[in-house]
Amino acid sequence: MKIRKAIIPAAGLGTRVLPASKSIPKEMLNIVDKPAIQYIVEEAVAAGIEEILIITNRGKGAIEDHFDHSFELEANLRGNESKKKIFDDIMKPVNMANIYFIRQKETKGLADAIYRAKTFIGNEPFAILYGDDVIVNPDGQPVIGQLCDAYEKYGCGIVGVNEVPRKDVGKYCSLDITPLEGNVMKCNDIIEKPTEDQIMSCYSILGRVVMPPEIFDYIEKTPVNKKAGEVYFTDSLVLLAKEKGLNAIDFVGTRYDMGNKLGIMKANCEMALMHDEIGEDFKKYIKQLAKEIE
Ligand code: UTP
Repeated sequence: MKIRKAIIPAAGLGTRVLPASKSIPKEMLNIVDKPAIQYIVEEAVAAGIEEILIITNRGKGAIEDHFDHSFELEANLRGNESKKKIFDDIMKPVNMANIYFIRQKETKGLADAIYRAKTFIGNEPFAILYGDDVIVNPDGQPVIGQLCDAYEKYGCGIVGVNEVPRKDVGKYCSLDITPLEGNVMKCNDIIEKPTEDQIMSCYSILGRVVMPPEIFDYIEKTPVNKKAGEVYFTDSLVLLAKEKGLNAIDFVGTRYDMGNKLGIMKANCEMALMHDEIGEDFKKYIKQLAKEIE
């Protein structure tokens, strides 16, 4: 079944990027000249997604404004030949997809945020793109498209993974996997934030999954993690894996973690180097800077 719907959980508090995220949602922090969440919506649209639900929270109204008209700006720029590109750029987020919003009224974790989308999703498979993970694949298929194709081929839920350095696995999760075909694996088990002796592999889930609608039943059944005081989405994925099956795909793409300061800087540097307008000048600047700091 074709994946038509996606959700973007963007209701987290963003404590790791404070104070930048105090009054600006971290999902709205820019990468060169666009907010992070626009790259994520563009990825979904490029993969053929038609309907997108963004899960927000109090103080995140800037996200809604970004995907809405700005009549004053539009009136000012419309018809001005020298500013046509800027006009086109501000119209893109308005027209790119059908975008809806819902609030997660209490910040009770990712599983709870995803659960807010139950009615919107109904009875069809859907994509989840985490709101602080920007993943690009400039010369190839959008990463969420790679997952959608695998979902359609194998007919079960799929998580997007990459190998991360062993010292970092404890910040993410660790998967027990069995190779299936090419870059697709069967996922037997997952452990959230493992200690060194609990690591099963260095494959971690990095911001993209495609789920069957039954995932909402599994979220309901998942016990609250006592230490965290919230339902871990990872635990719901384990229930799904054990009862219905779950695959993992070692996706092709570059991920930038916009939830931490170094990730934001890497995203800005690398995207600036690829940017049409400033790429060449930025490259010269970086080369000069590298000489100076050697
Ligand atoms: P994170 O755990 O990376 O986001 O969640 P966070 O809670 O904002 O991070 P810190 O630790 O406080 O810095 C991954 C994604 O899930 C969303 C976040 O917005 C992010 O895009 N999320 C997280 C929610 O929508 N609701 C939540 O309750 C928690």
